[in-house]
Amino acid sequence: MRNDDKKLGPNDPCWCGSGKKYKKCHQGQDQSAGAGKFEAPQQVRRSDPLLLDESDREKMRAAGAFNAELMDYVRDFVKPGITTGDIDKLVYDYTTQHGHTCATLGYRGFTKSCCTSVNDVICHGIPGPRVLNEGDIVNVDLTTIVDGWHGDQSESLFVGEVSEEAARVTQCSFDAMWLAIDALSPNCKVIEIGRAIKRRADQDGFSVVKEFFGHGIGKRFHQRPHIPHYPDKHHGSEILAPGMCFTIEPMINVGTWRSVVDRADGWTAYTTDGKLSAQFEHTILMTEKGPEVLTLTKRGPQRGHKFKSSAGVA
Ligand code: MF3
Ligand code: CO
Ligand code: CO
Repeated sequence: MRNDDKKLGPNDPCWCGSGKKYKKCHQGQDQSAGAGKFEAPQQVRRSDPLLLDESDREKMRAAGAFNAELMDYVRDFVKPGITTGDIDKLVYDYTTQHGHTCATLGYRGFTKSCCTSVNDVICHGIPGPRVLNEGDIVNVDLTTIVDGWHGDQSESLFVGEVSEEAARVTQCSFDAMWLAIDALSPNCKVIEIGRAIKRRADQDGFSVVKEFFGHGIGKRFHQRPHIPHYPDKHHGSEILAPGMCFTIEPMINVGTWRSVVDRADGWTAYTTDGKLSAQFEHTILMTEKGPEVLTLTKRGPQRGHKFKSSAGVA
């Protein structure tokens, strides 16, 4: 989700990344949600619709589990020679054959069933004729609607063998995501996420993207709370209470954190220096006992995984 700005005006680009004006996009929803969006974050009240009860949690678990199954299905097809459009078709067919819906298809003008972000694309890459070549890294970001509830996750995948730098930035974003998950506890503050991610990125001298956030998720694809991946004072003081569902999806760049959105398609976000970017994402439910990761895969990289470059361990 695209970062917002405290002074976001009606004619500014919307925070969701649609490329549309805020007034034509989320402004109405934000105001009717009474989110106090650009005021200091509020403590969560018991009546807050963002707090899921046990039956809602079960719905989110089912959505997350299907989305993870889809990731396990798609991952094995990502090899040199496949196009990003082929990946999109696999995602669409598997999802619809199971009776579910691809959340990105038609989402604020997005025309594909997933995002495929190759090399210097940070996020929101649009699947198409691009052929993946040995040495590329591609983030595949999947979001499914199951019975009205959303599951959202992504992995940066290696196309064949990759350079040491590609493996290192992939490792960094993976570790950063897990360190952020491990930093969570019931009623902790959002800023703990950004702190953990920034600390890990600094170890490698990599940068954390500031223009796209993690986000609350549930019946809506993108909602409160905003989850910056760097320590942000404004959004950082929001509390993550039991019953809240949100994503953590750090984008880590080898060079500058700055991004530019493709003028022609209005979506694809590139690094401004053309250097590599990697990302992982999970959907997380905060419970009374701590975080529950809803999008765990069976065959993907598990917590603690070590990625290997063609030269060996990254
Ligand atoms: N799945 C992305 C996220 O993690 C959002 C993609 S929106 C799209 O929030 F329209 F670009 F597909
Ligand atoms: Co997301
Ligand atoms: Co996503």
